[in-house]
Amino acid sequence: MNVQADTIAQMTSTSFDPNRIIKDFPILRRKVHGKRLVYLDNAATSQKPQSVINTVSRHYQQTNANIHRGIHTLSVESTNAYEAARGNVQRFINASRPEEIIFVRGATEAINLVAQTYGRSTLKKGDEILISTMEHHSNIVPWQILCEQTGAILRVAPINDAGELMFSEYEQMLSQRTKIVAITHISNALGTINPIRKITEAAHKHGAIVLVDGAQAAPHMPIDVQDISCDFYAITGHKMFGPVGIGALYGRHEMLNQMPPYQGGGEMILSVTFEKTTYNHVPHKFEAGTPNIVGAIGFGSAIDYLNAIGMENIAAYEQELLAYATAALQEIDQVQLIGTAQDKAAILSFTVGDIHPHDVGTVLDQEGVAVRTGNHCAQPAVERFGHSATVRASLALYNTKEDIDALTSAIRKTIELLG
Ligand code: ALA
Repeated sequence: MNVQADTIAQMTSTSFDPNRIIKDFPILRRKVHGKRLVYLDNAATSQKPQSVINTVSRHYQQTNANIHRGIHTLSVESTNAYEAARGNVQRFINASRPEEIIFVRGATEAINLVAQTYGRSTLKKGDEILISTMEHHSNIVPWQILCEQTGAILRVAPINDAGELMFSEYEQMLSQRTKIVAITHISNALGTINPIRKITEAAHKHGAIVLVDGAQAAPHMPIDVQDISCDFYAITGHKMFGPVGIGALYGRHEMLNQMPPYQGGGEMILSVTFEKTTYNHVPHKFEAGTPNIVGAIGFGSAIDYLNAIGMENIAAYEQELLAYATAALQEIDQVQLIGTAQDKAAILSFTVGDIHPHDVGTVLDQEGVAVRTGNHCAQPAVERFGHSATVRASLALYNTKEDIDALTSAIRKTIELLG
């Protein structure tokens, strides 16, 4: 996909300038309760740059048509843009070929797809699926459903008080019964960055395949699926500054080829008679029905945006912000950070004295500061620390030290009001 002209115009090339980046996101100009919006809920969903909004709008204004079906101009142009977006995703995570990228609704659907195709067709009673305590519900429940269907057993590797995977316990839980290891790259509730290559290597030694939930990693650091050497990697567009309702599953080509289809319908077939249907080749075998065409094209545009800034630059900037935010929160006596892994992404989960996290979130909102409160769809991870809920500030490339200052002053105000 070609980088849109307006994207190029907005890009910083080598240096990272957050104030320039903020200007790319129109929503960051709005006010909430009369205050400047300080958006710190990026792990839930990210905001969209103008270039992505323009790409989506331009597609509907000029190109909209169904793909892989028509011979008319709009259909050909739509198909080309959709397939170019697949190439963008492929290069972004360094998959070896575009056919290894399946467009799905999001990371949740990617994981369910693997569970219900690879998992359901290969697992037997007594086989084991190994996850960790820090998983998002989307990397727990699909495996529980699969266990109910197949008689497989779900096992859970523990985490320590910092929120890090206990690696030797994980290794000890691996055996020839382990068929699937499903693990998050970055914990959405704790911020922990897992040593994903080491985890994959250990699993492969025991013959298990590895699915990595990369929903929180792909917007924040460079991803190389060949280097990680995982079998599946799940990402989602809306956390990567792209549209909602589009994501991608990376799968090694030989795995995807062997797997049965996920859903039946148009596009995933080569031929259909009432006696027999022949399935299409990958990736189309897994993309039944009209896909989210403009979502995929907008996702491709978001990747152009990230590439133009550079994932290394984004990762380095966010680490700087994380250090600043951690120090600032630690200065407030009542704040207890949950998740203090050595290798950590810019996600800060915390409690404020005995004040209920929802009350903290409500006062913060009055100050224009948007955070998530609750269990973050990772109930076991939060309960591991003796809480049912936390406040979570999750940062992204357009956040600044001023945003962190706004957060800490809103927390101090909460303590004055409710502490
Ligand atoms: N998984 C998203 C979050 O962490 C929704 O908030």
